[in-house]
Parts: sequence; C-alpha cells; structure tokens
Amino acid sequence: MEKIIDENKQGESLILDDKKTNSRKLYIESYGCQMNFSDSEIVASILSEAGFNTTNNIEDADLVLVNTCSIREKAEQTVRKRLEKYNAIKRINPGMKIGVLGCMAERLKSKFLEEEKMIDLVVGPDAYKDLPNLIAEVDEGRNAVNVILSKEETYGDIAPVRLNSNGVTAFVSITRGCDNMCTFCVVPFTRGRERSRDPQSILSEIQDLWEKGFKEVTLLGQNVDSYLWYGGGLKKDFEKASEIQKATAVNFAGLLELCAKSQPKMRFRFSTSNPQDMTLDVIETMAKYSNICKYIHLPVQSGSDKILRAMNRQHTREEYFNLINNIREIMPDCSISQDMIAGFPTETEDDHKDTLSLMEYVKYDFGFMFAYSERPGTLAERKLNDDVPEDIKKRRLNEIIQLQQKHGLYRTRQHLGKIEEVLIEKPSKKSNEHWSGRNSQNTVVVFPKEHYKVGEFVDVKITDCTSATLIGEAVSYSKNN
Ligand code: SAH
Ligand code: F3S
Repeated sequence: MEKIIDENKQGESLILDDKKTNSRKLYIESYGCQMNFSDSEIVASILSEAGFNTTNNIEDADLVLVNTCSIREKAEQTVRKRLEKYNAIKRINPGMKIGVLGCMAERLKSKFLEEEKMIDLVVGPDAYKDLPNLIAEVDEGRNAVNVILSKEETYGDIAPVRLNSNGVTAFVSITRGCDNMCTFCVVPFTRGRERSRDPQSILSEIQDLWEKGFKEVTLLGQNVDSYLWYGGGLKKDFEKASEIQKATAVNFAGLLELCAKSQPKMRFRFSTSNPQDMTLDVIETMAKYSNICKYIHLPVQSGSDKILRAMNRQHTREEYFNLINNIREIMPDCSISQDMIAGFPTETEDDHKDTLSLMEYVKYDFGFMFAYSERPGTLAERKLNDDVPEDIKKRRLNEIIQLQQKHGLYRTRQHLGKIEEVLIEKPSKKSNEHWSGRNSQNTVVVFPKEHYKVGEFVDVKITDCTSATLIGEAVSYSKNN
C-alpha cells in the first residue's frame, strides 16, 4: 500500500458528508497502513448512520476511536502512548467513551480491557458493522468486544465518509486479509483470510468519487495481485467454484482494465503487489492504459535466498530479477519501490550483502525499510530465535537506507529536463507559493503555483531534484484535463 504512513502521524477527521441531524461527536485517529486509513472512512460512514458526526477536536468528542497497527512493536507503543493521552482527557470528561479498532484490537482481544482500564470498546477489522450495537452496550455501562474475523465481509456496500481528504486522491479497497503467511508478519492473524470485493461495487465507488471531483484512485489490498472475484468467497475456495463462476471470474489485470476504461480521465494506482502474484498480464495492462500510473510497490524484504525461504516468501532472488526485467522491458519508464527488513533471524553478513547487491541491481526509486521486530504468535516468533543483536540490525538498516538514498537520487536525476504530467494535490509543505503533486511514477513534484489549481493535471518541466523530490515549472495544462 503506498505504504506505511509514518506511525506517528495521526489522521484527524474532516467534516465531509456529515449529517445535520446527528447529535453525537466522533473523533477518530488512524495509525499504520493505508488500509487502516481507508477502514476509518468506513467506520465514519457506519457511525454517521448511527447518530455520529466527526470532529477534529478530541475534547468535544463523545466517542474516541483509535484505529491501530501491530506490524512492529514500535507501532503498538505509539498507540499505547496515545491511549495515555485519551485517558487523561477522559478523567476530565468521564462521559467520553474510548474504543480501540484495527490490528491491536484483533491481536489482544478482551485482554486489552484488562490492560487498559479506561477502554470501553474493542473491535476487530471485520466487525465494524457491529459498532452501533456495541456502542449501545457501552451506553448501558458495559464494555463491548467483537473481534470475530469474517470470510465474506468486504464492506463493499458501505460508502466511505472521506476523512482528511484533499478532494483529489482517494483510496478504494479491493481485497481484505492475506493468505500468504510470511513468517515475520502479524497481518494474516489480525486481518484474517483473503477475500475480494465485488468489481461492480468497486466501479460504483469510483464513479461516485469521479462525480465528487476526485481525480486519482489507489486500489488497496494487502496483496492486490491476488485479487480474484468469482461471485464471493475466499480465494482459497476458488477451485470449488462452478464452471460458470470460473469462466466469468475477474482477476487483478481484469479489474485494472475495468477501472481504467470506466474512468478514462481518472488516474489509477494500486498497492501492494506481492512479487509471487504479479503476472505479465498485469504489467501488460499497465502498459496499455495511460491512466494507470507507471509505478509498482514490489516489496522483497531480503536479497538472500536463504532468508527469503525462512520468511516463507514464495519466490527466489532469481525469480524476482526476472520480474524486474519484465517490468523494465514492457514499461521502461516504470518506477519501482521496495520494503526491506534488516536483521531477520539467522541473517548473516553475507545475507545482508545479498540484500545490498539486489538493491544495486534494481536501483529502487523509493523504499520503506525496517529493522526486524519479533511479533507474538507469528511463525518466526515460535520457531526462530531473534538472534541478530540490535546494534547489528541498526547498522545493517542504516546501510540499506543510505544505499536507497543514493539510488533515489540516481532515479530522480533521470527526470531532469523532462516534461511530466503532474496532478496537483496540495500546497507544498515548504512554501505556500508552490504546489505539490505527483507524476505517474509517484515521485513528488513541487512547482510555482501560478494560475493553476488543486485537482488539475499540469505538464511540468523538471529542472532540479533531491533524492526524493522533483522541482520544476509548469509549462501548460496537460491534455488529460
Ligand atoms: N502486504 C502488505 C504488507 C504489510 S506489512 C501491504 O500491503 O503493505 C508492510 C511491511 O512491513 C512489510 O512489507 C515488511 O517489510 C514490514 N514488516 C512486516 N512485519 C514486520 C516485522 N515483524 N518486522 C519488521 N518489519 C515488518
Ligand atoms: Fe504480511 Fe506477507 Fe501478507 S508481509 S500482509 S503476510 S504478503
């Protein structure tokens, strides 16, 4: 998912689509991956039907919800710190209720209520439709917990309330859960089995976004390339589907094509791709449609075959290189980004060098890099010793980050002198005189505002760069407007 948003960054709510008759106030904050931010929009929608409007002011709230992340220990610590803050507010305002959503809720279940006495509500990622009932329980003075994982729930019928929106770019979720069982990863335990959402409901959500003026959609899933719709049901049960279901099934390449054709003036991105599931037809579909952005987030985690095996990643270094070669051959201008884990159990200096040499081969445009963090209940925690000392993990992580910075600069320099289409998203953080947007490759482009406006596609001549940002000057409106 265009990836982990800084775990310290909090998502606040914006009042969009709120109902005038609603009397109670909801404050919702999100941590972790884009899927969590997208889920919070589903939660805001469900609760707007149950009498809640969103507020940006926590002190005003009747209900505070925190959508949590368990991916690394640090993510959980960040949430615990926020809970301390909520508790302090609740001491002054005892009527305020506190609920925990998302992956920590699913991982800790009712244990959360024992550990954090001020919490009223614990709700896992598949149980959000039950929130109105659970809140009714809480209103009657009881704690409420629902952490049941579902085989069907995709929230396909919920129209999300867009939170914190720039009115230009939006997330649309297409799959939930993950069946991959990478040995380091807690997600299959917290988000359950993989299921895909009905393409018709995806297309109608996109249509609605278009009508509201949005210009770019990112299709979200833990593993989008394994998207498969055959009328509902788990991915793993596809073999049992009828012949008609099999013949009319829609895979990820098919879905991408449906999206690109349905809104030719809208841009499409997607995240995340797992290398083992990315097929040539997806790459060819990307190449065929100019409104599918030329960017693939393709986490590899390690460059060592031994470590890839220990992580239960279903491909080798060689197979990954083949995939990269295919992408470069079919779409020479495509950007590629990575996720890496430094210091997975048993990782030696040679394994680490394999990671560096893999990076040297690919020269990623961006990256999201982490030190290994042992997660309770995962296969790695049960079967392997977390045996790489912290200082070595840190040193290896730093080497990976430094190399990525070098490659980032190498890649941004390739854009110098070119004229590229940029979708304007917001004012630049550094200067109110400049716009910030992204090109097809997902690189941030900053340029003087002139007469251009948010939500417009502009052709920008790239004149300068850092390792992560392009700087330029607008030439004209792009033909996509
Ligand atoms: N498929 C998912 C991946 C979720 S986790 C997606 O759509 O984003 C995001 C990244 O966090 C992973 O690719 C991995 O690099 C990192 N990660 C996951 N578990 C981790 C752990 N236990 N320690 C360190 N990093 C981890
Ligand atoms: Fe996690 Fe691997 Fe799935 S990283 S989300 S188990 S693809």
